[in-house]
Amino acid sequence: MTGSSSPGASKSWPGTERAWRTRDGWALVIRPIEPSDADRWVDFVRHLSPATRHKRGATRLEQLTPELIRRRVSPDPEGEVALVAAARRGDESILTGVARLVRHTHWEFMLVVADAWQRRGIGRRLMLALDEAAVARGCTQVEGVALATNRGMLEFCERLGFSVEPHPDSRLLVRVIKRMLPVGAGAGAAPAQREGMVGGTGIEPVTPRV
Ligand SMILES: CC(C)(COP(=O)(O)OP(=O)(O)OC[C@H]1O[C@@H](n2cnc3c(N)ncnc32)[C@H](O)[C@@H]1OP(=O)(O)O)[C@@H](O)C(=O)NCCC(=O)NCCS
Repeated sequence: MTGSSSPGASKSWPGTERAWRTRDGWALVIRPIEPSDADRWVDFVRHLSPATRHKRGATRLEQLTPELIRRRVSPDPEGEVALVAAARRGDESILTGVARLVRHTHWEFMLVVADAWQRRGIGRRLMLALDEAAVARGCTQVEGVALATNRGMLEFCERLGFSVEPHPDSRLLVRVIKRMLPVGAGAGAAPAQREGMVGGTGIEPVTPRV
């Protein structure tokens, strides 16, 4: 396993890449997004189903300008962590999931897994990686926003130790919140955090999408 070759990306990533292989022969790795992912990222966004796009509030296709693409694949290492789950089989290489952690007044995250790749543990692994990134930055709370009707995401979050709370602005939305324990608090950490699990999402317009 190696760290990322991109200087900006390595700065935003505290750990090592995670690799595993699916039964049908795909080699998957979780790593920071890189400028060379631009075409793969556009493919990923273009192929999200309408249902997944709606749940996520994904980048609209008409918004895919060269400048936006550049920003999405070159995150500011000081205020953002962007990780991908990339799959390779032979010469084929695709992005199967994207997770971001962005610092506003709080740390907010978003997550989306490509439709064909959902329920294969990719979201959980991406969240685990974001969890490490958050803790490494001294973050004590991460949160996101989800549609109140997005039962799959809410079950995912609850399974990973998040609380689900009302959104102050809309009954159509909920906040998903996880209080983080600082580095070194492992013995007293909540079970989900000891296992390195974290979950959540964000659909606020201020957040870089997907
Ligand atoms: C929600 C999402 C991020 C989960 O990622 P994923 O890779 O499919 O999830 P995982 O396979 O890691 O699931 C881990 C656990 O979460 C729970 N879970 C995940 N998706 C679920 C669903 N649709 N319904 C119920 N529980 C679900 C399960 O307990 C699951 O474990 P299991 O498969 O062993 O039962 C992904 O399905 C997704 O991108 N959905 C569409 C976009 C979206 O809703 N994003 C959030 C925007 S607010």
